[in-house]
Amino acid sequence: MIEACLFDLDGVVVDTANYHYIAWKALAEELGFEFTLEDNERLKGVSRSQSLEILLEIGGKQFTEQEKLAMAEKKNALYVSYIEKMTPEEILPGVEKFLQELRQNGIKIALGSASKNSPMILERIQLSAMFDAIVDGNSISEAKPNPEVFLKGAEKLGVLPENCVVFEDAIAGIEAAQNANMYSVGIGDPETLGFADLVIPGFDGFTLEKLVKELIAPFPFPLRGKA
Ligand code: BG6
Ligand code: MG
Repeated sequence: MIEACLFDLDGVVVDTANYHYIAWKALAEELGFEFTLEDNERLKGVSRSQSLEILLEIGGKQFTEQEKLAMAEKKNALYVSYIEKMTPEEILPGVEKFLQELRQNGIKIALGSASKNSPMILERIQLSAMFDAIVDGNSISEAKPNPEVFLKGAEKLGVLPENCVVFEDAIAGIEAAQNANMYSVGIGDPETLGFADLVIPGFDGFTLEKLVKELIAPFPFPLRGKA
């Protein structure tokens, strides 16, 4: 039975995954190497400092901790310059409608994001009020694929993990949902996220009825493959 839905933010509710990409790409170019869209998949859902480590590994570069701190700050300043201009129009198609449908059906809603910039984004897109609980990069100590962010969300909502569904665009995020023993819905490409319980291209036209039919009905807890 679905009692709660937990949503990642970047790349699920808004297309900030692209802003992250162009900000990291600018840093890579400054450091003299190429950073591709494919490389970017490895950064999705991963914390700022870990993202930088992966980026430097891709470029084969090494720096002191102090230099790395300055680079992460520089990337974040560029990223913030993009997100501070965001408006509610940037909420991805179908998201608001789906959130409203969940609410009307008494299903609780939480945010589970690694981003420390979540409060600013939610404020800019005016969506904070839709969430019954918010867990973000400011309140977690372990990054996805650790399940902490989603387990904290479920706890705040007072719902058992097995009655939660996580919506995620990142490999690390789907792994975190699985590690939390929650259902997982991948948003994006089935080739990348095929190991999720269900993969959808986005929320446009997606409904609670479809969620129940395509996700829960074939795998009633605890009979689903991984349980
Ligand atoms: C995640 C993004 O939501 O947040 C990652 O998918 C990002 O790409 C991480 O690195 C941390 O975000 P921020 O805004 O705190 O740098
Ligand atoms: Mg994401």
